[in-house]
Amino acid sequence: MKIYFCFLIITAPTFLKITSAFTLKETSSSIFPFHAVIDGSNVCSGLLINEEYVLCPASCVNGSKWDIKISLGNQEDPFFLSNPVQNFTDTYNAKDIIVHEKFLKLSNSVYLNNIALLRLTTITTFKENIQPGLLFSKLENHLIGEDLVNVTGWSTTTVLNLSVAETTLLNPDTCAYLYGDDFFQYQETCLEWKTHDYHLNLSGNIVSVQGRILGFLIRAPCTEHDLDCKNHYKVIKISSFLDWISRKSNIPIETLTSCDFLENIEPRPSIEEWEN
Ligand SMILES: *[C@@H]1O[C@H](CO)[C@@H](O)[C@H](O)[C@H]1NC(C)=O
Ligand SMILES: *[C@@H]1O[C@H](CO)[C@@H](O)[C@H](O)[C@H]1NC(C)=O
Ligand SMILES: *[C@@H]1O[C@H](CO)[C@@H](O)[C@H](O)[C@H]1NC(C)=O
Ligand SMILES: *[C@@H]1O[C@H](CO)[C@@H](O)[C@H](O)[C@H]1NC(C)=O
Ligand SMILES: *[C@@H]1O[C@H](CO)[C@@H](O)[C@H](O)[C@H]1NC(C)=O
Repeated sequence: MKIYFCFLIITAPTFLKITSAFTLKETSSSIFPFHAVIDGSNVCSGLLINEEYVLCPASCVNGSKWDIKISLGNQEDPFFLSNPVQNFTDTYNAKDIIVHEKFLKLSNSVYLNNIALLRLTTITTFKENIQPGLLFSKLENHLIGEDLVNVTGWSTTTVLNLSVAETTLLNPDTCAYLYGDDFFQYQETCLEWKTHDYHLNLSGNIVSVQGRILGFLIRAPCTEHDLDCKNHYKVIKISSFLDWISRKSNIPIETLTSCDFLENIEPRPSIEEWEN
């Protein structure tokens, strides 16, 4: 029963065939309470995963020092405010900045292992607008196709309060075609904005399905096929880094995904056993 629940989360939107136009809408930090804003070497969005750790793309914080600001619970646009501290938000510095050991910049906007963990200077207190996000499990990571997703966050070009846009991912093979050698299918997927939703382009904006976190949006115009390449973005699939996150933060994978039962499923019988 529980297993179905875990799969349903990822497949339900496809069945529901939501027909409303995919437009950018203002939303609330109480509906998407897991956003962090990181003011480091770049301003980025990040993800609170428990009371002590925030995840973000490594490209946002590599080379930053402890005094970077990490604020939780933001509603108003943090990018355009010179001071990201707002009412009802909590702000921290980083006790540790843990960048993936194999983080590499291959070229402009092409990264390998683009993930980092920030440890907050003090433990945060959860409240209505500050809650950890639940990650996709490893198994769900393999099932990601042309799913309907929500992108939430802010813009670097337009003043926006926390906003949401519903869109669909491109098929992973389409991403591989569009990006050629600059695409890592296990760590990444991609999407293409259809309308003005592309304004939601702050690095690290969060891609989720029914409140479960798939990954971080990264602006990365595709390179291989000029005519098709306009408003393309990559999505860093966080669940491909679950082992690394768990090892570095000491948070069990089951806690991060709460699909712990998936790890304990009885192995399937072989075909021979099945036939007997
Ligand atoms: C990350 O930062 C370190 C220290 O500033 C630097 O040596 C390294 O080249 C950076 N890595 C990437 C991929 O930018
Ligand atoms: C923040 O709180 C202060 C005092 O409580 C209030 O005067 C101010 O208007 C608030 N600002 C916003 C943007 O809500
Ligand atoms: C953002 O929300 C605040 C209220 O929290 C409102 O005063 C402001 O006009 C909004 N800004 C935009 C750009 O919608
Ligand atoms: C966001 O998009 C605008 C225009 O589409 C672009 O000028 C800007 O550089 C983008 N910001 C980032 C962080 O990619
Ligand atoms: C996107 O978020 C809205 C709430 O703002 C929710 O009603 C909708 O189901 C979500 N869609 C997906 C694909 O998660």
